[in-house]
Amino acid sequence: MTLPVHTATPPTPARAHLLHDGTVDDYRAAVTAGADRVARRVAEAAGPFTGVRPEQLAPLVDAIDLDRPLRDTTAALDELDEVYLRDAVWFHHPRYLAHLNCPVVIPALLGEAVLSAVNSSMDTWDQSAGGTLIERRLIDWTAARIGLGPAADGVFTSGGTQSNLHALLLAREEALAGANPTDRRILLPQLRIITSAAGHFSVQKAAKLLGLAPDAVVVVQTGPDRQMRAGAVRHEISRCRRVGLTVLAVVATAGTTDFGTIDPLDEIAEVCATSGVWLHVDAAYGCGLLVSPTRRHLLDGIERADSVTVDYHKSFFQPVSSSAVLVRDRRTLRHATWHADYLNPARMVAERIPNQVDKSLQTTRRFDALKLWLTLRVMGPDAIGELFDEVCDRAAQAWQLASADPRFEVLTRSALSTVVFRWRPAGTAADLADAANLHARSALAASGLAVVAGTRVDGRQYLKFTVLNPATSTDDVAYVLDLIAEHAGRYAHTHAVSTADLTCPVG
Ligand SMILES: Cc1ncc(COP(=O)(O)O)c(C=O)c1O
Repeated sequence: MTLPVHTATPPTPARAHLLHDGTVDDYRAAVTAGADRVARRVAEAAGPFTGVRPEQLAPLVDAIDLDRPLRDTTAALDELDEVYLRDAVWFHHPRYLAHLNCPVVIPALLGEAVLSAVNSSMDTWDQSAGGTLIERRLIDWTAARIGLGPAADGVFTSGGTQSNLHALLLAREEALAGANPTDRRILLPQLRIITSAAGHFSVQKAAKLLGLAPDAVVVVQTGPDRQMRAGAVRHEISRCRRVGLTVLAVVATAGTTDFGTIDPLDEIAEVCATSGVWLHVDAAYGCGLLVSPTRRHLLDGIERADSVTVDYHKSFFQPVSSSAVLVRDRRTLRHATWHADYLNPARMVAERIPNQVDKSLQTTRRFDALKLWLTLRVMGPDAIGELFDEVCDRAAQAWQLASADPRFEVLTRSALSTVVFRWRPAGTAADLADAANLHARSALAASGLAVVAGTRVDGRQYLKFTVLNPATSTDDVAYVLDLIAEHAGRYAHTHAVSTADLTCPVG
């Protein structure tokens, strides 16, 4: 038998774009040129955003004829600069204070470059080899940090939404275990999920995708501390049972999206344990505490969960996407298993071939775990935890600044790194304050000087800082508060319908 001869025939123009042994120099040059463009924009960004509006940018994107290639990398990058990089929203900028987007660590970017070039797919061993083992080590490492015990397992996912869906699918199947198809049809509309009013909307979405009843999510109201009360959970479980409903899971949140609050995990775990109900902890945001040198105790009780969501792309400073769902009992993962003859036939289980698709909702799947791997191997977990600690400290300082400022009303102090507040000097009518805060948020983004988030709380319009950048200083926070007060104050003075609406000075 002879090895096929590697012909020296010149590649066709199309083939010259494929990464292979004859194009490695082009690959290196193209990736370096792309990194160089990003580096230039990062170095030059004067603010987190240019304030560009959709109607300004859309014509530039629409004008590009996708059927007429530029046939030149430099020209394509020039064009990309115009339609994307110039006006991108930059999370590395200290005055990006809006959503749960983090600046990213360089070892993870290195991982991103490597994983996309090798292009492993994590579904089967025969498409990833070592990648499978690396992902499994990271799942074991995360499960150990949580304290889930020796039978724990899990899988990387695309994000917290998918992790929550996955966990609730497993919980639904556990609740329906042993039911025949007829019983399933009867039981499905009777299933309930208990979560809090501050929980993430992906729980509602998951319930819908899982075919549950429209009122399947029982929302427990929170007090001013925005935490779900264990007593309220116990009460709801009893109430559901009294009327013949089955609680398939309680979803506690370790780091609510708006308030950064953490539900009393240990107390809720106790209620779930005594009631025999699956506990899912959504730690998409709070998972950074797993590596915090000073705040790990805030997650006490998480080790009692049946399943946990972690988003490394929120508080581990990883690029999107990087998330995982973990379970206490690896046997529960079988509910997402399907064997296909062409891919992962059942015999491979007996042969001990590790096919991650057996545990995943996805088939073809990115090797996102590599980013976390390189992060841990270069920086180590403590360094990530220190970064997260820093942003939590900064948010606490921001909370103090805003609380001490008579121009603002401030809500619950976050255990993590958000601040929910609104401009409302004494004497400002509530409706006018609502409109003024909405205006301030968009005026600020339009100016490009800062980006902040907004949310509604108890029917009123609030603003939100999510601090995830250790480079954000208290001076940045003070500056942004002044900008907000200026925009809101000007708006209020222009729009006050009567002096009764506004008895305060501008700003
Ligand atoms: C608490 C919580 N859970 C889940 C999610 C959804 O995560 P993802 O956006 O990665 O799907 C978020 C997103 O902000 C979140 O804050």
